[in-house]
Amino acid sequence: MTLDRAPLLEWFDRNRKRTQEIFALVDKSAYYERPIQLRNPVVFYEGHIPAFSVNTLLKGALGKPGIDQELEVLFARGIDPETVQAADQSQASLWPSRSEVLRYVHAADESVRNALESSEIDNPDDPRRQRALSAFTILEHEAMHQETLLYMLHQLPHEAKHPPPDRHPAPEVSRRERGTVRIPAGTATLGAQPDEITFGWDNEFLSHQVEVNSFDCDKVNVTNGEYLRFVESGGYSQQQWWPDEGWQWITGNRIHYPRFWGRDGNQWVWRGMFEWLPLQESWPVYVSHFEAAAYARWKGRRLMTEAEFHRAAYGSPSGERPFPWGDDPPEPRHGNFGFRHYDPCPVGSFPEGRSAWGVHDLVGNGWEWTSTVFSPFAGFEPMASYPQYSADFFDGKHFVLKGASPATALPLIRRSLRNWFRPNYPYVYAKFRCVN
Ligand code: AVJ
Ligand code: FE
Repeated sequence: MTLDRAPLLEWFDRNRKRTQEIFALVDKSAYYERPIQLRNPVVFYEGHIPAFSVNTLLKGALGKPGIDQELEVLFARGIDPETVQAADQSQASLWPSRSEVLRYVHAADESVRNALESSEIDNPDDPRRQRALSAFTILEHEAMHQETLLYMLHQLPHEAKHPPPDRHPAPEVSRRERGTVRIPAGTATLGAQPDEITFGWDNEFLSHQVEVNSFDCDKVNVTNGEYLRFVESGGYSQQQWWPDEGWQWITGNRIHYPRFWGRDGNQWVWRGMFEWLPLQESWPVYVSHFEAAAYARWKGRRLMTEAEFHRAAYGSPSGERPFPWGDDPPEPRHGNFGFRHYDPCPVGSFPEGRSAWGVHDLVGNGWEWTSTVFSPFAGFEPMASYPQYSADFFDGKHFVLKGASPATALPLIRRSLRNWFRPNYPYVYAKFRCVN
């Protein structure tokens, strides 16, 4: 079978254009800022995306020469240190000027595009090129970093950002759901087989079935309004709700409310991408795993497991389906994803995207925290195109998130996709719901 390169080239061009649009949101005064202390500065990401493509596709899979060895080392990998002290230590290097970075970006783009157009990127005898593995790896990697960039830029002061002209309002919904629904016991299929999907990251394989007991599941996510009651009842000063490490984290860092919230006099405000807003009580609360777990415990409830997420999202009385809403590919009417919005929408804004059991927003409006520690499925093998992708994170210190956020690209929306972060990471667009 011959490879159809047109969709790969279209995706590459779409990606590059979107990444440029994201960098255009940043005022040049913030280019060397580190909006998240635990991450590299903004400049790193402008170089990292193309350098990763050069390292992975050109040098790794095709054995071609690179473009600039020094920059390809500097921009090779992001960081995931446990503490700010560890992050500070990795900041020793001096970053190049923006014009030097952009010169590299343009040269890399041209070479990578040419390779996608005419090199032998699909070769069944080479593990790195089987089914165009490295080509898909670089394309999905860029799409993922668009989300990294957006949640990082979210933390910049608003004066350092230029809002784009095209901002969509949230859809109007006449009746919003609340309460819980009983999900009957049944089988959930986690993961995928290599021949089932065009591309998947190594941690998505292999597929296997898990028996899930019946459980009561919130139909919508926990909102800012609900979480406010936990905050105002003293939840952040009552140790009994918190996992031990979570208690150390909030007390050690003097955390009294979610990262996306703020105080303006005696009013609660919400940190929007482009402005401070009054606290939006109908929006899902974006929190760290520790904060989600503490709230659930306060309610006498708990977070979903990864397998329960699969039952709630993909199960139906007549078997499993590819998306919560059924078989159709994701469209704007199904949820808040695909870069249409920079902030969340009210919970339950996309009734057409609800699951067979009537559970809303499982895919979209923020990743969904699960109680499952990120670990490999049986049969896991590090992927040939990027062996460190997941393997470095099977350390028992990361939790699985499922679904999608406003900043998740459409091609990443598939049942087997798994995301993961540390439980003290409060920056990602991540929400939760309670079950019991
Ligand atoms: C899968 C989103 C957790 O950002 O750390 C990007 C993706 N890996 N470059 C991350 C990733 C290498 C990863 N997440
Ligand atoms: Fe990366």
